Amino acid sequence: MPAVTPAERAAALRAEIHRLDHAYYVLDAPLVPDADYDARFRALQALEAAHPELRTPDSPTQRVGGAPLPQFAPVRHAVPMLSIQTETDTTPQGAVAFDLRVRNKLGLGADDPPVAYNAELKFDGLAINLRYVHGVLVQAATRGDGETGEDVTQNVRTIRSVPLQLRTAHPPAVLEVRGEALMQRADFARYNDRQRAKGLPTLVNPRNGAAGSIRQLDPAIAAQRPLAFYAYGWGEIQGWADQPTTHHAMLDALAAFGLPVAAQRVHGPGAQTLTGFHTQIAAARDSLPFDIDGVVYKVDSLALQAALGFRNREPVWAVAHKYPAQERSTRVLAIDIQVGRTGKLTPVAKLEPVFVGGVTVTNATLHNEDEVRRKDVRVGDRVVVRRAGDVIPEVVSVLLDQRPADVGEPFDLYKQLGGHCPVCGSAIVREQGEADWRCTGGLFCAAQRKQAILHYASRRALDIEGLGEKLVDQLVDGAVVRVLPDLYKLGLLKLAALDRMADKSAANLLDALEHSKATTLPRFVYALGIRNVGEATAKELARHFGSLDALMNASLEQLQAVPDIGPIVAQSIRTFFEQPHNREVVEQLRACGVHWDESAPVESATAKPLSGKTLVLTGTLPNLGREDAKERIEAAGGKVSGSVSKKTHYVVAGAEAGSKLAKAQELGVAVLDEAGLLALLADAAGDG
Ligand code: IVH
Repeated sequence: MPAVTPAERAAALRAEIHRLDHAYYVLDAPLVPDADYDARFRALQALEAAHPELRTPDSPTQRVGGAPLPQFAPVRHAVPMLSIQTETDTTPQGAVAFDLRVRNKLGLGADDPPVAYNAELKFDGLAINLRYVHGVLVQAATRGDGETGEDVTQNVRTIRSVPLQLRTAHPPAVLEVRGEALMQRADFARYNDRQRAKGLPTLVNPRNGAAGSIRQLDPAIAAQRPLAFYAYGWGEIQGWADQPTTHHAMLDALAAFGLPVAAQRVHGPGAQTLTGFHTQIAAARDSLPFDIDGVVYKVDSLALQAALGFRNREPVWAVAHKYPAQERSTRVLAIDIQVGRTGKLTPVAKLEPVFVGGVTVTNATLHNEDEVRRKDVRVGDRVVVRRAGDVIPEVVSVLLDQRPADVGEPFDLYKQLGGHCPVCGSAIVREQGEADWRCTGGLFCAAQRKQAILHYASRRALDIEGLGEKLVDQLVDGAVVRVLPDLYKLGLLKLAALDRMADKSAANLLDALEHSKATTLPRFVYALGIRNVGEATAKELARHFGSLDALMNASLEQLQAVPDIGPIVAQSIRTFFEQPHNREVVEQLRACGVHWDESAPVESATAKPLSGKTLVLTGTLPNLGREDAKERIEAAGGKVSGSVSKKTHYVVAGAEAGSKLAKAQELGVAVLDEAGLLALLADAAGDG
C-alpha cells in the first residue's frame, strides 16, 4: 500500500474533525469520547505546524487563530439584509390578520384554498450573513444598516456550530446563509458566574453578550464567550442546480449542509398552522435553551414570496409575531440595600411574590440610587416587574395611580443606612460622577472579605502562592479567616482540617505566607485594595511619602501634591485610612510580622500603555458600566476626566452621547466606541 502523504493525512483529519464537530455542536450527539477528539485535533495541529503549507482557512485549527483587529472592515451586502414587520396584535389572532393580508394581496377569495406557511422562532441575537464560496466559509458579516455591515469573520469562526465547510460534495458556487448568532442561557449564566467569581463585570442579558462577543476585536476573547448560530434564511445564491422551491425545504437543505437550523419549526396550510405554532411556542418558551423575541411566519412557496414582494423595505410575505412582554405588577414590601464583593451598595426591592417569565420573583434590582429616584419607587408602591433573558428581574416602573396614601418616603440611601454600611458599619461614600454608593471598610467588611483576601494575595500585591479562590471560599465560609491578619495565624492543624487540603500543600501555603511577610511598601499599599489606588498609584504614594505612617496621616492637600493624584483619589485614600477598622487591620498585619524597608528606593511606576493619556467617558456603553470602564482605564495607567478639552486623548462614546461627543468632534479628539476602548485596553494588557 502506498504511504499516505502529509497532505492526505491532513485532509483526512480535517474531514474527520468536521464530522465530529457537526455531530457534537449541531446534532448534539457526540460520536467519540472527548479525549479521542482531542487526540485527532492535536495530530492535525502538529501536522500543520510541521507543514504550514497544509494549513487551509477552513481547517478546524483556524477557529481561533487571528490576531486582534484594529477595527472591523465594512462589507457591502450582495443582497440587502432587510427587517420584517411586526404584527401588533400579540394574541394568537395576530396570525389570522397576517393570513388575511396575504390572501388579499394574492387576490384569493374565501373559497380559494389555504396558503401554505412556514412558522419558525424569532431569535433574539445578532443577524449574521455567512458567505460560502464553493462550500468554504469565506466571510461573515453583521447586518449593519442593512446595506453595509461589518466583517466579523474571525469571531464567527469561533462559533463551533458554524461549519467552516459545507457538508456536501456539490456545494452551490455561492451560498449566503442568514441567521442569528446568540448566546444560550446556560452559557450566559456560566459566563456571568465566572465573571462574578473574579469580581469582573457581568453581561446584562444574553443578547448583549452575543453582540459584545461578535463585535469583540480580539477573537481569542470572543471565543471565551461561547455563541450559537441558527440559520433562518439566505442572501446571494449562485450555481445551485437543484435549489428547493419552498422556504421549509430550503431550511431542510441548509440543515443537510451542516448548518444549525432550529428544530422548532412547522409548515402547513392556513392561519391555523400559525396560531397552533404560536400557542405551542408560548408554552415552551421558558424551556428553550435560548431567549426568543416571538415567532416568525413566512409564506412557504418561494414563487409566492416573489409575487408578494416587498413594501417599505419589508417583505410582504413574512411577519414577526411577538409575545406580550413578561411583565407583572406586584407590591414593594421593602427596599433593602445589598453590599457586593467590591463594596458597591445596590438597592433591591423586596416584593410580594409574583410569577413572571416562568419563575416566582421576590427580589428585583433597583440598580442604584438615581434609578430609584428617577422611577420614584417607594415602599408600599405597586410596581411593574420585568424578567428579561437575564436571571435578575428588575423594577420597570411604578403604577403611580395606584399609590397608597400611606406610601413610604422618597428613597434616600444615605438616610436609610444612617451613613453606615449595613454589613460592617463603616462609612459609605458616593464619589463625584459615580452612580453607586460604596462601603469604605474594604479590609474589614464581611461582604468584601473574599475579594480583599484574594487581592492581598495576588501576584502584584503580597504574592501568596496557593491562596486561590477555592481556598479563600473555604477559609471565609468556615469562619477560619475573618480579617486579613487571621491569615498569619493559620497553623498546619487548621489548614489540614480543610477539605481537599493535603499536608504538603498546607505546608507550602504556610511557607508562602511566611515569605510574604517580607515585602515592599508599594506592594503593601497596593495590597490594601484602597479604591482608585492601583499599582502605579501605590508606587507613586510610596515614593512620595516614604513611609506608611506618613501616608496614613497625609491630609487631602498633601495627597494631591503627589503627581497624578487628583481630588477623587486623594479622597478615597483619606476615607480609607479614616476608618478605624482599616487602621486596625493595618496595625495587626504589622504586628504579625509584615514588614518592608522604608529606606529602599522605589522604582518609578513602569510606564503603562495608557500612562499620560486622558480619556473622557460619555453616554451608555453597551456592556461596560461606567465604573468598570473607568477602573480598567486606570488599571492601564490612564486617567478619566469629566470634561473634554484639547488635552483629551480619547473620548469613549456610547449610546445617547451628547455634548461631550460634539465637543470632541469639534476639537478633533479621537472618538472610540466600547469595542475600540476594549481593543486599546487589550493592547494595554499585552495578553489580550
Ligand atoms: S427573516 C427579509 N426570520 O429579526 C426577511 N428574521 O426584523 C429577513 N430574526 O434582523 C428576516 N429570527 O435578524 C427572519 N426566523 C427569523 C428570524 C429573524 C430573528 C431577526 C433578523 C432581523 C430581524 C427582522
